[in-house]
Amino acid sequence: METSKRIKVKELLKSEPGQEVVAKGWVRTKRGNRNVVFIALNDGSTINNIQIVVDTAAFDEDTLKKITTGACICVRGELVSSLGSGQAVEIQAKELTIYGEADPATYPLQKKGHTMEFLRTIAHLRPRTNTFGAVLRIRHAMAFAIHKYFNDKGFVYLHTPLITASDCEGAGEMFQVTTLDMSNPPRREDGSIDYSQDFFGRQTSLTVSGQLEGELGAMALGEIYTFGPTFRAENSNTPRHLAEFWMIEPEMAFYEIEDNMELAEDFIKYLVRYALENCADDLRFLNDMFDKELISRLEGVVNTNFVRLTYTEGIRILEESGEKFEFPVGWGVDLQSEHERYLVEKHFKRPVIMTDYPKEIKAFYMKQNDDGKTVRGMDVLFPKIGEIIGGSEREASLEKLEARIRELGMSRESLEWYIDTRRFGSAPHSGFGLGFERLLLFVTGMSNIRDVIPFPRTPKNAEF
Ligand code: 4AD
Ligand code: MG
Repeated sequence: METSKRIKVKELLKSEPGQEVVAKGWVRTKRGNRNVVFIALNDGSTINNIQIVVDTAAFDEDTLKKITTGACICVRGELVSSLGSGQAVEIQAKELTIYGEADPATYPLQKKGHTMEFLRTIAHLRPRTNTFGAVLRIRHAMAFAIHKYFNDKGFVYLHTPLITASDCEGAGEMFQVTTLDMSNPPRREDGSIDYSQDFFGRQTSLTVSGQLEGELGAMALGEIYTFGPTFRAENSNTPRHLAEFWMIEPEMAFYEIEDNMELAEDFIKYLVRYALENCADDLRFLNDMFDKELISRLEGVVNTNFVRLTYTEGIRILEESGEKFEFPVGWGVDLQSEHERYLVEKHFKRPVIMTDYPKEIKAFYMKQNDDGKTVRGMDVLFPKIGEIIGGSEREASLEKLEARIRELGMSRESLEWYIDTRRFGSAPHSGFGLGFERLLLFVTGMSNIRDVIPFPRTPKNAEF
């Protein structure tokens, strides 16, 4: 076969009939009779397939037999108006080349209707399903939109390190990074491991957040954002937790908490609107297959004002709700997803930005309020998800920050560089972290976070 350039299916479906074209892709289905065969071909460029019409008399039987679900083929033919319903054009095949067969006896993706659980066990093949094709294209579109949003606003994309010696969130959920021989590590006299002999000369881990370095960037460049993988060794086997997830963390000089809330709300609405405008086919598919309210829920968020609520008011509403929660509520408790979802889904019926949390349940860097009890944290709570964003105004006062670090008994030594931002030219500043996969859960309507990342990392699972 001559190698003229293939045209992607997405383009073909919009092209004028009456031209010779080349299409390449994977066979989704093959049906027909002794005289004519119809192949649905997909190349990942769109949820839609192009139909290939094959006159069996023009091809040898052996070639046609090898064209089975999952096989990869190249087709040259005439793009013609389709007589059948469901598509405007189809390809009348003139030449067929088989790149790769897929044995029907062993190829796992026969027909439709596999459970999401089963598809997770074949994460190497599931991108070939309609559902994962749609999710992965939306994931890409959201990543692009995130960069576009911040670029258009003049934010600088700052690359923060993945290997770090500090625990930003202070929750001790770090994965250690070491080249020491763990079966026989060097030890100090007191028996503890001698990390001075480790690769970095100290104990290091994978980062849980790029925020601390992000703050350094904001204190020089004004407005920055990070977008990269973060890691948490929290043993949470839930539909909303991953051990490796992607986070977007904007950090802005001269922003107070109100500015931070405004940016968070505007940012999420921009992303949802972008999905509605640019991922219509994929969203329609997910809406029809999984979640009939998906598109109306997305439109709802774009057109509503988020509620602003203090933690103290939120607790009062929960206490007066008369609802039976698995985890009891009271001032001082860390909210569980059931509490967050009650406020968002039942009480307010729209997203909520909750602020001013007890300092005990939030990280050391948050700006302390004058009441001595609460800090300027803010979480954005979403329907179906619970917390989608966590952020705060940062403590800008050197004295107060030092006092809090002391109070919490944190090691100051590994934070001296961070404290310097308050020592030299400190400024009011704020930021937040959006969990990329939590956003995708909301936008795609998927119910398990393992299904919005190509290769999920969760407790006891690091295959592929
Ligand atoms: O609330 P978190 O822990 O906040 C931070 O890490 C701050 N340093 C962010 C900042 O202010 N720059 O995490 C932020 C968000 C959460 O709201 C959630 O969306 C997501 O990250 N997230 C997770 N997503 C998936 N799996 C996990 N285990 C997650 N933990 C947090
Ligand atoms: Mg949080």
